[in-house]
Amino acid sequence: MRKNIVAGNWKMNKNLQEGIALAKDLNAALTADKPNCDVIICTPFIHLASVVPAVDAAIIGVGAENCADKVSGAYTGEVSAEMVASTGAKYVILGHSERRAYYHETPEILKEKVQLALANGLTPIFCIGEVLEERQQGVQNKVVYDQLAGSLFDLTAEEFSKIVLAYEPVWAIGTGLTATPEQAEEIHAYIRSVIAEKFGAEVAENTSILYGGSCKPSNAKELFANPNVDGGLIGGAALKVEDFKGIIDAFK
Ligand code: PGA
Repeated sequence: MRKNIVAGNWKMNKNLQEGIALAKDLNAALTADKPNCDVIICTPFIHLASVVPAVDAAIIGVGAENCADKVSGAYTGEVSAEMVASTGAKYVILGHSERRAYYHETPEILKEKVQLALANGLTPIFCIGEVLEERQQGVQNKVVYDQLAGSLFDLTAEEFSKIVLAYEPVWAIGTGLTATPEQAEEIHAYIRSVIAEKFGAEVAENTSILYGGSCKPSNAKELFANPNVDGGLIGGAALKVEDFKGIIDAFK
């Protein structure tokens, strides 16, 4: 059975003290009222080593928002998958549209990152999704197919089964626009069919596919109610315990 997951992506928000306080507050709220799904928070690199011990690993998993495409060495400013794993973090977001757009991360670079994450025991939360123009042209299925093929089709079925996918239409990220539940279900079902074709029906059935893009407490329930939407990747609404918990509670 695939897991339902609500994952937060803090992006470049919260200094260290604020981040620890947010993690502790969320931990307290979810200890008092246990979630009905897996909960993950993905934080800036420098927060990881402090946030991991601040939360109950049985309730909240911790992840990074990125990792390097190289093992180690003279890559000033980079943080390797091995370094991320050494903090006790278990997840890493890869291929977020902001990384693709602003830091020119190509499918080839992301392929390296996925391999390194898996080699270090991290679960990649791999993001795919089209920009507005592509949606208007009706080519969103081809866009997500190419993103999957370009970075993940070299994996074995066993390796792929360790991946969590996040479909995030770029036009919905941080914009207040949300895909309708019908739009989300349609493309999530398509993504699952692509996985089934490439890696087999069982792997496809067990893959969690999260929706991301202006997900909030008021729309989470109807998005997650779709059979092929297994939770959410949450940006802005992950920065407030009340909002994030409101989304988590959509599974209740
Ligand atoms: P948002 O971001 O919830 O603020 O739209 C989602 C994401 O980028 O993961």
